[in-house]
Amino acid sequence: MPAGRSVWRCQQCGRAETRWYGRCPGCGEYDSLTEEAQPRDAERPARPHSAPVRLSQVTTGGESRISSGVPEFDRVLGGGLVRGSLVLLGGEPGIGKSTLLLQVAMSVAARGGGVVYATGEESPVQVRMRAERLGEIAEGLVLFPETDVTAVEALAESERPALLVVDSIQTAVDPDASGGAGSVVQVRAATTRLMRVAKDLGVTTVVVGHVTKEGAIAGPRVLEHMVDAVLYFEGERDHVLRVVRAVKNRFGPVSGIGMFEMDEGGLRGVEHPSSALLKDRPAAVPGSAVFPLVEGPRALLVEVQALASQTCAAQPRRLATGLDLGRVLQLLAVLDRRVGSALGSHDVYATVAGGIRAVEPACDLPLALAVASSLRDRPLPPDLAAFGEIGLAGELRPVPRTSLRVDEASRLGFARIMCPAPGASGSSGGADVIPVTTLEEALRVLD
Ligand code: TYD
Ligand code: MG
Repeated sequence: MPAGRSVWRCQQCGRAETRWYGRCPGCGEYDSLTEEAQPRDAERPARPHSAPVRLSQVTTGGESRISSGVPEFDRVLGGGLVRGSLVLLGGEPGIGKSTLLLQVAMSVAARGGGVVYATGEESPVQVRMRAERLGEIAEGLVLFPETDVTAVEALAESERPALLVVDSIQTAVDPDASGGAGSVVQVRAATTRLMRVAKDLGVTTVVVGHVTKEGAIAGPRVLEHMVDAVLYFEGERDHVLRVVRAVKNRFGPVSGIGMFEMDEGGLRGVEHPSSALLKDRPAAVPGSAVFPLVEGPRALLVEVQALASQTCAAQPRRLATGLDLGRVLQLLAVLDRRVGSALGSHDVYATVAGGIRAVEPACDLPLALAVASSLRDRPLPPDLAAFGEIGLAGELRPVPRTSLRVDEASRLGFARIMCPAPGASGSSGGADVIPVTTLEEALRVLD
């Protein structure tokens, strides 16, 4: 792009264009492009060049971590907050981001670390009231009701806290950048400054970013590539169970999830997720199947539910919650063709209980069982758990981490575990492993 020419930037997805469009060519959002001035070359600040280094001479293992004091949060981060890193915590409004970070801030402060909690969202009185419900208020926790990132930067420089929390990036403002608070330009500029606080001052920083239900808002998505780690808070606001998931982590695997329960005393880590997820499972009702889901290093037992209800509509409804709708549709087509399920005259609703997301292909088999069970109005055996991918020909395909899934299911007392053959077979920890090769064969369990 020639210097000095203005660019038109989409406030939704961050795409840059040389002229205005009524609809963003990138994300399709209407009226989202705003003009943004490009500095001329002469105005660009001179940046010192870096020196090349031999890869063989780069030392590793030096990263030191601080514990957040919230074990489930540490787990998602791969063992605590890396000193001098910038972490983004995204999620829908009201999901519990501020609550979690206040808990983290309080426990870091309680262990003697200095903490600055900059908030543009709530007044000190509101934060204090929330804090009182969460626990002991340590001296080392400083509230900073400020949205100007230069002020936050200056305070971080003078205080050098062990942890800086910025709640939220949408309310943060960089006075040197154009655009209103929450615009792509502002959100990027503010994040760049906070990046400098983290890298140059070595201050561990966590920023909050709001995401809408559609997950498409400017904030967090355009920041993902800038920060060291991206965590998303998931779950339904009206459910007690919440999940924090890492989608990016420069300092560890992105495979872990942390599970929390929200009550009057804030967020509490869930020690036995499988039991918590199956707690409300109805006994012996059609349309319910148990699935050992793998999330990073652990397996969790979740309940997959389906409801097939007769309809006269020409176009039956298909609805999926916590599941990949594309996969659900494919699976319904396979069920229809391979086993003649008459699904064309039924609406199908499929969901994972507890607000959990199960988008693994391994979820195919329990989902197929749940749909068939609802269709035939016959419950599955109460002691059955199942997992496995189903191909277009109705064949069962092996999935990763078979033994982890089998162990978790048998630990929780499931006596029969249906899975693709060849995989584990025989028995494990008192459970019978039932290997199946086709969907038809799997559905015989209903007879
Ligand atoms: P909050 O952390 O403010 O969400 P976010 O920062 O992601 O917008 O969460 C607010 C919700 O959590 C609110 O609906 C009230 C509820 N809540 C509890 O149930 N118990 C508590 O102890 C606290 C502090 C909040
Ligand atoms: Mg908040």
